[in-house]
Amino acid sequence: MSNFEVIIYEKTDGIGYVTLNRPQALNAYNLQMRDELYQVLGAIKDDPEVKVAIFRGAGERAFCAGADLTEFLTAPSPVIARQVRWERDVWGLFLSITKPLIAAVHGYVLGDGLEIALCCDIRLASEDTQFGLPEVGLGIIPAAGGTQTLPRMIGRAKALEVLLTGRWIKAEEAHRLKLVNQVVSRHDLLPTAERLANKIKAYSPTAVTYAKQAITRGLDLSLEQGLELEAKLGAGLGGYK
Ligand code: COA
Repeated sequence: MSNFEVIIYEKTDGIGYVTLNRPQALNAYNLQMRDELYQVLGAIKDDPEVKVAIFRGAGERAFCAGADLTEFLTAPSPVIARQVRWERDVWGLFLSITKPLIAAVHGYVLGDGLEIALCCDIRLASEDTQFGLPEVGLGIIPAAGGTQTLPRMIGRAKALEVLLTGRWIKAEEAHRLKLVNQVVSRHDLLPTAERLANKIKAYSPTAVTYAKQAITRGLDLSLEQGLELEAKLGAGLGGYK
């Protein structure tokens, strides 16, 4: 277990567990969490012992209630912010991880919280989960990929509705919209994530990461290019076609 302050990172039997750990502030995403998440993501990416990772939130009430609003008006100047983003592109790093990532979310999943979940490959939600992007109501837009990842998941019209109206989505609707793979009780949330993780980690790590890449990268390509990508990845595994 690593000694971060606002993230707990544990590694057990090939599974990396990432817990956002500011429950007193509903796990709001602050600058320290950004810095620690950057280190944790690097560890997941580079550590061959980690085959799959599970993301969750500490406490009873939230996975993450979005950007820390107490830092909202104290953010660095745009020039410094751009420099930090360049040096520490958390979201680029997140999306570049080829290992499967599972978000097991509960309670409030707002702003950056939803964007973290969207950087994962499989989303499990407990029945009490509420998703939302409050950014436009605050005079900003999502900055962690949400404007791109959400429409890829739930389609253009629904993504625009969520973003432009700030409407929150409850777990059942999120399931209907294909934003989450499965809705379970709070009690079953972690065990369900672990069952999936154990199943995945039993397979060939190369086949798993290639399968993830074929789908996630392929979705941003034309069908022709996607088929080329599939063939290339398949050949790398001793493909048979
Ligand atoms: N940033 C910093 N602190 C936050 C936070 C955030 N985004 N969200 C919640 N908190 C803190 C509250 O200030 C409060 O702290 P306190 O106990 O020291 O006063 C604690 O977490 C509990 O939140 P509270 O607002 O009392 O709970 P609630 O049940 O009344 O409301 C929410 C829950 C999620 C509806 C409400 O906290 C909220 O709207 N948060 C902001 C969401 C948001 O706009 N995020 C930014 C997205 S860009």
